[in-house]
Formats: sequence, structure tokens, C-alpha cells
Amino acid sequence: MIKKRSLKTEILFRLAVPLIFFISIESVLSYFVTLHHADVAYDRWLLDSARSLTQEIKARKGKVFVELPPAALEIFKWDESDKTYFKIISEEQGMLAGDKFVPEPFDLETDWSGPVFFDDEMYGEPVRVVSMQIAPEHSSEKVFVHVAETLNKRRNMMMDILLADLVPQMVLVLLAGIYLVVGVKRGLQPLHALADEIAKRSSRDLRLIPEQHVFLEVRALTDTINDLLERLGSAIASQQRFIANAAHQLRTPLAGLKLQVERALREQDLPAMKPALMQIQGCADRMSHLTTQLLILARSEPIDGEYELRPVDLCKLAKETCMDWVPKALQRHMELSFEGSKRALYVRGDEILLRELLANLLDNAICYGHDQGNIMVKVEAYPSPRLSVEDDGSGIPELELDKVFERFYRIPGSPGDGCGLGLAIVKEIADLHKAQLELSRVSAAGGSRVDLVFKAL
Ligand SMILES: Nc1ncnc2c1ncn2[C@@H]1O[C@H](COP(=O)(O)OP(=O)(O)OP(=O)(O)O)[C@@H](O)[C@H]1O
Ligand SMILES: [Mg+2]
Repeated sequence: MIKKRSLKTEILFRLAVPLIFFISIESVLSYFVTLHHADVAYDRWLLDSARSLTQEIKARKGKVFVELPPAALEIFKWDESDKTYFKIISEEQGMLAGDKFVPEPFDLETDWSGPVFFDDEMYGEPVRVVSMQIAPEHSSEKVFVHVAETLNKRRNMMMDILLADLVPQMVLVLLAGIYLVVGVKRGLQPLHALADEIAKRSSRDLRLIPEQHVFLEVRALTDTINDLLERLGSAIASQQRFIANAAHQLRTPLAGLKLQVERALREQDLPAMKPALMQIQGCADRMSHLTTQLLILARSEPIDGEYELRPVDLCKLAKETCMDWVPKALQRHMELSFEGSKRALYVRGDEILLRELLANLLDNAICYGHDQGNIMVKVEAYPSPRLSVEDDGSGIPELELDKVFERFYRIPGSPGDGCGLGLAIVKEIADLHKAQLELSRVSAAGGSRVDLVFKAL
């Protein structure tokens, strides 16, 4: 079973998924970039605090000492959200000032040419630390300054950035989503309108869909439907014409049949009934012939995909059909000859219909040919497979050559009880096989020739 999928859902899915994906990536990237810049700014402040401490490191007589006025310590207190700790250590004298628990860089290979930043823990709290090495004037002692700060400001900043970044993005996704849903719904509206319009129609309403739809895609659909409606309309019209013609053709022999039955019933004895009974037999024969022709015509109507054409040996088929028709030709003392190679000649076709085609051509040749005339059936392989039937009868007048293929058309004054469907059947079957059909006069004196050229296999 074909899984039903909604075009609306499909379009929305294809648009929304990449949109959400790209916006998420953009949010994450911009979050980290902003965070990095904020971190750099806070690190600079921390460094400033460390530098202000270095101002208070002095040396007297080669010995380093620290003088920390209350103003210098103030900078470590003004911050409300974070705690700041410091430690000043001399290489020779050890601890000079500050809190001894302030962490120091762990790495022994630390490059002291500039300030060193690192993350650590102090009193169970995570801290950011900056460490510097200085060489005070008038002293050869090395002094290290370490300043640590808790991370509350940074964490608050992280949250602020996250909210400032995420909330607008979420609003953007929401608005874009609403816009997409409304847009897609509106965009598909013409399709729904078209479906409603077609659904409302009755099965007889084959009017073309008006070209009011402006969108190219919908236009392409309506054009295709209109094209189908047109073809359907002409197929139905031709079918109705055919049914009307068939009914009309059947009515004549039926009326004759009824008349003759009434005539026969009026007679008392069998010999008197005989002429009427013979007429009844004639009428029944005509009706039977007409019904057979109608059925063949109905069968040969090309319907897309209905026929599966298979390889058929044209030589064998033509030879066998000719043999079937020899007795009928002999009744009129005609000579029916067949000329074709002994080797098989395959064409793609429907065997039963091809036999009907040849039967109709032979029926015509026998019916409209002269007594003691000749009929020649030929099958040739080159340049393309060709079947031809030629007789030496009076032939079809030049002006009638096109008309004889019309259904129920008979040349006025034609002999026999034909119903005018034979050549129409031949044409339908030829069309079904995509074979080229040619009808011609053999010479100015008369004779007819029908050629059927098939596509080579
Ligand atoms: N070989 C022929 N020679 C002369 N006239 C022909 C020949 N074949 C067909 N015709 C003419 O063409 C007309 C149409 O032929 P077609 O076979 O379609 O109908 P039909 O023979 O009258 O009836 P049906 O074949 O249905 O019994 C015929 O009435 C006949 O006048
Ligand atoms: Mg005929």
C-alpha cells in the first residue's frame, strides 16, 4: 500500500529542520564567542588588581618589603559579588603578605615573562587566578604576586549572555515557524481549491478547468487535467456516436426480422412460409455478422496498456488465414495465392487481432473482386515487414479512398450485406500495432491493394 504523505508536512519538515539546525549552530557559536570576550575582559580586570599590588612592593637596602595602605586593600573589597584574595611571596623571605591558601601555578616550567592565568579552587570554591613575577628596583630578589577571584561575576555573565542570545533566537524560530505554517497553508490553497472544484463535478461534466490559477505548478496540473478531459470528451463523443450508429444499424435488420416473422405467421402451410423464413435467415445472418464486426471493433479499440504485443510469425499467420479463406474464394471461382518466405518473420503484435485484420481484407477482396479473379497475399521482410493483399476487382474510386476507413461507411451501390466496418477494424488494428496502412488502386483500370508496414522487431 502506498504510504499517504502530506505535502504540507513534507514542505514544513524540509524548511523547519534546517532552519532550527542553523539557528541552533549560530546560537551556540555566538554564545561561546561572547563568553570568550567577556572572560578576556574579566581577566584584564584581575590583572589590573595584581598590577596595583605590585606598586606596593618596595626594596630598602636590597631587602624587599610590602607596604599595604588601606586604600590599596580597598580594591579587594569593593566587589560585592566576588571574593578576591592575594598573596605576595618573596623567593628569599617567603610569604610577605596576603592569604597563604591562594593557589600558585602548578607547572614548574611556567613561563614568567608575562602574567599567568589559570583556574583552580580555594576554600572549596572555584577561582580564577593570575600570577606575576616581578623584580623590584634596588633588589635582586624575585617576588611573586598571585591574585585569585571567585567566579560569581563570570557565571552571572554566562547566564546573561545565554538569555540575551537564546531568547531572541527562540522568538525568531517561533515567528519563522508561524510564518512557514501560514505561508505553506496559503501556498497550497490553490491545490485544495482545485481538488474541491473537481470533486464537486458530476461524472458527465467534462468542461475544461478555467485558467484562473496563476501559479505555474498548479497551471501545469490543470493543463494536464484539461488535456485528459479533452481526450476523454472526444473518446466519449466517439463512443456515443458509435453506439448510436450501432443501434441504428441493428434496428434495420431487426425491423426486417419482425416484418418477416409476421409475414410467416400469416401463412398456413410450410411451403408458403419458406420465402419469409429465408428472409429471416438472411436478416439473422446480417445481424450476426454486424454483431461480430462490432465486437471485433470494440476489442481493437486501442486502450493504453491493455494490449501486450508479443512476437508473432507474420508468414505463418498469413498462410494459415489464407488457407481458411480458400473455400470461400473457390465459391466465386477465384484464385487465392500466398507468397512469402518459408522462414519465420516476427513482428510485435496480437495474433487474434492480426487474423481478424487479414480476414477483413480477404473478405473484401472476395466480396468486391470479379468472379474468377485473382487475389494475392504477400509477406515481405525487406525493407520492413510488410503484409499486402491485392485483388483485380473493380477497385475503390480515388475519391473514396479516404472515406472507406470511416465506421459504417459503404460505397453507394456496393454489393453484399456488409455493414461498413471491415476497413475501420483494419485501421484500428493497424493503429494498435503502430503499423503504417496504405490503400491504393493497382491501376487505372481497377484492382485494390492494401499494404500494412510493420516496425521491424
Ligand atoms: N477490395 C475492394 N475492392 C473494392 N471495393 C472495396 C474493397 N474493399 C472495400 N471496398 C469498398 O469499401 C467499402 C468499405 O469496406 P468495409 O470492409 O469497411 O465495409 P463492408 O465490406 O461494406 O462491410 P463489412 O466489411 O463490415 O462487412 C465497401 O463498401 C466497398 O465498397
Ligand atoms: Mg468488408
